[in-house]
Amino acid sequence: MIRYSYALMTIVSSVVINPALQDSVYVIQLTDTHISADPATRFAGVDTDVTLAAVVKAANRHAPRPDCVLVTGDLVEAPSEAAYLRLLPHLQSISAPVYCLPGNHDEPALLRSVLNRDRGRTPKVIETAQWIIVMLDTWESGNDGGRLSKGELETLRCALEGAGDRHALVCLHHPPVSIRSPWMDEMSLANPDEFFAVLDEFSNVRAVAWGHIHQEFESERNGVLLLGSPSTCVQFAPCANEYIVVDEPPAYREFELGSDGRLRTRVHHVAV
Ligand SMILES: [Fe+2]
Repeated sequence: MIRYSYALMTIVSSVVINPALQDSVYVIQLTDTHISADPATRFAGVDTDVTLAAVVKAANRHAPRPDCVLVTGDLVEAPSEAAYLRLLPHLQSISAPVYCLPGNHDEPALLRSVLNRDRGRTPKVIETAQWIIVMLDTWESGNDGGRLSKGELETLRCALEGAGDRHALVCLHHPPVSIRSPWMDEMSLANPDEFFAVLDEFSNVRAVAWGHIHQEFESERNGVLLLGSPSTCVQFAPCANEYIVVDEPPAYREFELGSDGRLRTRVHHVAV
């Protein structure tokens, strides 16, 4: 059923999820969970444990049931083993396989060492019969912005080559385009030209999805959908010159990845 998985698995770490060949694949994206080591910590007055629990509850009730859940960075507010250990039960309470990538608030090696203890949660590629999902790492030490290393760019190229005629959703933490918020654009992806140069080598990329910006964003480039998503905790004002928190509820994004390559997506806000 999975025509190219062996080739992909020899290049990058991949996991196969297994809907029937002609079915759509349903995916939920959570992002910027910002869990802290100290449960008394608040993010702009918000208890990020409470909001994440509410989003997970909604995701677990979501119909159609997701085939997997992606968490696209800033999993913790400040990286420590204690913070990731406090995140782990949240992830374990999700009733679908969960796959994570790091953001600037994370520490990738620590993230992997804790979150992979009971099951693999950090594959580079998630494969289905008709789609691949590529999970990229844009983390750069000491930088709130992000950068794709040569290795990550090569992983992306290998994954897209290995996809054959399957469709691709590419995920990362930092936006590769301006979101028209100058303060946030200063900490976006530092090398978008290198990223898009790889994407432009292929015709099977349907969408790029990221976190980091704590707001919904949608655009398109060369037929590829570009999608930013609100956080599971605090949201930021769109088109703002500076950091402004807005009174909006936590959220998640759903994707339907059609077997014919069509992608439908929508953001859902969750009452707490
Ligand atoms: Fe971030």
